[in-house]
This record gives sequence, C-alpha cells and structure tokens, in this order.
Amino acid sequence: MIKSFWPNEWPFEQIVSQLPDKGNLIEIGTYLGKSAIAWADEFNKADKDWNIHTIDSFSGIPKKFGSLSISGEEQLKQFKENIEGKDNITWEKIFWTPDYKTDEWYDVLFYDGAHGYGNCKQALEYWVDRTECMVIDDYDTNFPGTMEAVDEVYASMRDPKEFEQICVEGKQIAVIWSIKIP
Ligand SMILES: C[S@@+](CC[C@H](N)C(=O)[O-])C[C@H]1O[C@@H](n2cnc3c(N)ncnc32)[C@H](O)[C@@H]1O
Repeated sequence: MIKSFWPNEWPFEQIVSQLPDKGNLIEIGTYLGKSAIAWADEFNKADKDWNIHTIDSFSGIPKKFGSLSISGEEQLKQFKENIEGKDNITWEKIFWTPDYKTDEWYDVLFYDGAHGYGNCKQALEYWVDRTECMVIDDYDTNFPGTMEAVDEVYASMRDPKEFEQICVEGKQIAVIWSIKIP
C-alpha cells in the first residue's frame, strides 16, 4: 500500500464510469503517486484509454505532518519507484501556478494540491475553461477554503454545468462538470 494523505482506497470508479473511452487527466498534487495510480488503474479496469499527467513540486512535506513528513528528494525517489511500469502516467516536477503553459488538452482536472482558499480558487479558475470536469478533493468542513473556492467557481459558471459529490469514509470529493454528464 502506498503511503498517502488518504489511507483508504480512492473512490474514482463512479467518475471513470461517466467519462469517455479515451482522454487526458491532469492531477495537481500527487505526493507519492497513490491518487495518480488509482486513476490509472481505474481507467485500465474500465478498459479506457486515458493518460494521467501529474504535477507536484516534490519539495517534501514538513515535520508537522508526522509520519507523512518527507524530504523532497525522498518524495521524488519513492514516487518514481511507485509509478514504475505505469505507462499511462506522465509527470512534471514544478510548483504549479496560473502561469502554467501547456499545448495539451485535458478533459479532467484532479485537484489535490494546497487546500486553502487562494490556492484552490486560482487553480479552479485557471482550469474551469480548460477542462470539461474538475474533481476536487477535500470538499468538506475540514477544508472550508476548498468549499468556498469550489462553491464560488461553480456559481460563476454558465450552463451547462452539473455538481456532484462523492462521499466515502468521512471524505467528500466535489465533481464539477461543464458539460451534460454523459
Ligand atoms: C495532499 S498531498 C497529495 C496527496 C495525493 N493525492 C495522494 O494520493 O496521496 C498534496 C501534494 O500537493 C503538492 N502541491 C501543493 N501545491 C502544489 C503546487 N502549487 N504545485 C505542485 N504541487 C503542489 C505537495 O507537494 C503535496 O505533495
């Protein structure tokens, strides 16, 4: 089992079942790769041809996070070991900001970077018109900044739009669609 900020299984099955047979997902915040691998495995299980591109600063996790704490060097090393052989995962070591430039089209954003209001809001504002679906981890009262950012960005969107929540074992994940859910 890969060490993670979320010790249980990532509940991506339902979202994957709603997505097309082929696509591109971008993830911000992978830590040691558990969520990226969960997405990749879920798409493979559903026989869907998706690439997962994950971004992390790989700058380590401070001591206050206890057993999750790790140096940047060790984080990147363990991440690389964990994703070995996963052909549908690509990655970048950068600290993501709204200056990010890419020629790639992404259908889905999975956001699990910093969960404060400002960080979350700037990422969602950047990606809302660049994806068809945004999946945001920690949409719950433990992370009021995330809830506020998600609610504001969703309220600012024009139709078509749909909002879903995945609730499991004390965790809530928000799913924002800017298309009619297939
Ligand atoms: C909550 S952890 C991700 C947990 C991961 N999804 C998992 O399955 O365990 C947050 C991660 O986001 C990264 N991060 C936070 N803000 C970032 C940013 N702006 N750019 C790149 N990485 C960022 C941190 O380095 C950390 O590894």
